[in-house]
Amino acid sequence: MKWILSLLLPLLLSIPALAAKPLTPMPEQNWQLQSPDQHINLTLSLSDKSLTYSVNYKNKAVIKSSALGFAFKGQPLLQTHLKADKVQKLSHNSSWQPVWGQRATIVDHYNEISLDLSEQGDKARQMQLVFRVYNDGVAFRYLLPKQPHLNKVVISDELTEFAFARNFSAWWIQAYQDQRFEYQYLNSALSSVNVAHTPLTLLGQGIAVSVHEAALVDYASMTLRNITDNHITLKADLVPWANGDKVYTQTPFQTPWRTIQIADSEVALLNSDLILNLNEPAAKDTDVSYIKPGKYIGIWWEMHIGEKDWSPGPKQGATTERAMQYIDFASKHNIDSVLIEGWNKGWEGDWWQRPPTFSFTEAVQGFDIEKVNNYAKSKGVTLTGHHETAAGIQYYEKQMEQGFAYYQKLGIPSVKMGYVGTRVDQKEWHHGQYMVNHFQKVTETAARHKVMVNAHETVKDTGLSRTYPNLMTRESVRGMEYNGGSPDTGNLPNHTVIIPFTRGLSGPIDFTPGIFNFDYQKHRPNNRVPSTLANQLALYVTLYSPLQMAADLPENYQGHPAFAFIDAVPTDWQQSIALQGKIGQYLVMARQDKDSDNWYLGATSNEEARTLEQPLSFLQAGTRYQMIAYTDAADAHWEINPEAYEIKRSEVTAKDKITLTLQAGGGAAIEFIPLK
Ligand code: NOJ
Ligand code: CA
Repeated sequence: MKWILSLLLPLLLSIPALAAKPLTPMPEQNWQLQSPDQHINLTLSLSDKSLTYSVNYKNKAVIKSSALGFAFKGQPLLQTHLKADKVQKLSHNSSWQPVWGQRATIVDHYNEISLDLSEQGDKARQMQLVFRVYNDGVAFRYLLPKQPHLNKVVISDELTEFAFARNFSAWWIQAYQDQRFEYQYLNSALSSVNVAHTPLTLLGQGIAVSVHEAALVDYASMTLRNITDNHITLKADLVPWANGDKVYTQTPFQTPWRTIQIADSEVALLNSDLILNLNEPAAKDTDVSYIKPGKYIGIWWEMHIGEKDWSPGPKQGATTERAMQYIDFASKHNIDSVLIEGWNKGWEGDWWQRPPTFSFTEAVQGFDIEKVNNYAKSKGVTLTGHHETAAGIQYYEKQMEQGFAYYQKLGIPSVKMGYVGTRVDQKEWHHGQYMVNHFQKVTETAARHKVMVNAHETVKDTGLSRTYPNLMTRESVRGMEYNGGSPDTGNLPNHTVIIPFTRGLSGPIDFTPGIFNFDYQKHRPNNRVPSTLANQLALYVTLYSPLQMAADLPENYQGHPAFAFIDAVPTDWQQSIALQGKIGQYLVMARQDKDSDNWYLGATSNEEARTLEQPLSFLQAGTRYQMIAYTDAADAHWEINPEAYEIKRSEVTAKDKITLTLQAGGGAAIEFIPLK
């Protein structure tokens, strides 16, 4: 018996080799592409065994030869034995005007290379790869055309790698955690990152890098996993569905852009528009008439500090009377809208811990929405609606259409959304394809009903506001709320000088700044806002959002001279310039109002006091400005004396240099008004 097997075995083993067509060995091919300013160099290499890319910046390696490709369920990897059927290069240089944003005009300048690839042999599959090289980074995406041997697919893995050339210093938050993006950032060696959310910010040897993605549509979010313990090659780790599958799709499809922003310093990363540039322009017939950046206040902080409650009853925050007080305050100030959390039915008890019972069209007892809405209208103020879903998507989607239609009927032009919960519908991650697709429906439904969206606990921003300009802002960060009621006592003073350089690179942040009263320990003995009052003002400039909240209670603002800065500060900008900064230490930003020649400067510091020299060369040359500076008093300190501040007026020009004296956890907020 044995001898028969030994005769047959070599024969059996050779059958597949005989059946398969021999593949023609291919010589390695390389393609190069440079950024328009020639600082960034991309190399693509294709051989029988692999398809890779690498990136250099100013002759220093940033990313070494890194793998590309896909794993589809039940199919061989789409990664090897590829040949390039067509290679095209092009250059693009244009500019465009966003409906709102940090800049009124955005320059879109890049060189592009696209490779049409197909497998050799039988049942060959095809794939297109497009790379763009901008002055501020590299981006690439896969496009899978309609084809005979790839139709409906389950993506079980995206094989994209980022083989970093050096062990950068990484600023990151760990992915796959219950509180989504709501964590304090970690700073460690890149080799200590296990699995990180994007944007991931990396620094070292005079290079700053941010890895993220753009145009995330009908796909899973990308996280970055260190594939070998204590190494520096990270791999795309698509957030899976509960069953482990990554993406369900069908050809033709395209992935989001994988983005690698590169600059000389972290502060220069803040001046990049790469993520927005990679998104599609809005459709020509998009109605933008209802889309207006602005400021809002609301029945909110009083719940977080335990004074009031979302639940109906004696501590109910949302009452007709209280809402009217907020409206009165807004109408006397430059505040556009009033949010009322808890206005609708279904907030009883621990609403975040049980299946949702919310109604999105019925008001709770004690809150007369029509009366409040009419009162707001009579005072020239709008209401901001609220859709807290408690992460119950299936439940919410049954009412979503009516919910938005109801706001449209009342003339309510914006909604704050919430997805509080550790998993969506009790089982899916907040960043997987399920949530991505749900949130796309939300955005489109809101647009049909002419409602702007401000979403909390949702998918990270990937620049889709260019395509859907009603997608205004989102949280996806550990916001002010943690200083209100978090059992861990709140954020650290350095948090707000980390997030502009990390989370902020993905898009607007609804951080909800503006706390003036630091004495709220009655129900929260261990919590504190970890900043000075002047720092709170500066956040309106250093943290970008087209909808900015003034988060404190109206009585804490009433008659307060510092509120004049919140009144004055715009939320839509002609231009924005990150002037100087170091992640985790300090940041100085300047922005020019979109509707006037006024400039605003915000400077914030971590727990250390510091003095910064700041030239005013961003101002219009030859113009004299009145400068109104809201700064820390000499004895201000976030921990022991947060409310000590000064307001000083002087005259300056673009030739002047000012000294910013920031106390521990402090800041400076400055308005520059041209003198006639
Ligand atoms: C979480 C949000 O981030 C917060 O702002 C809101 O108050 C609660 N959800 C309730 O919806
Ligand atoms: Ca939140």
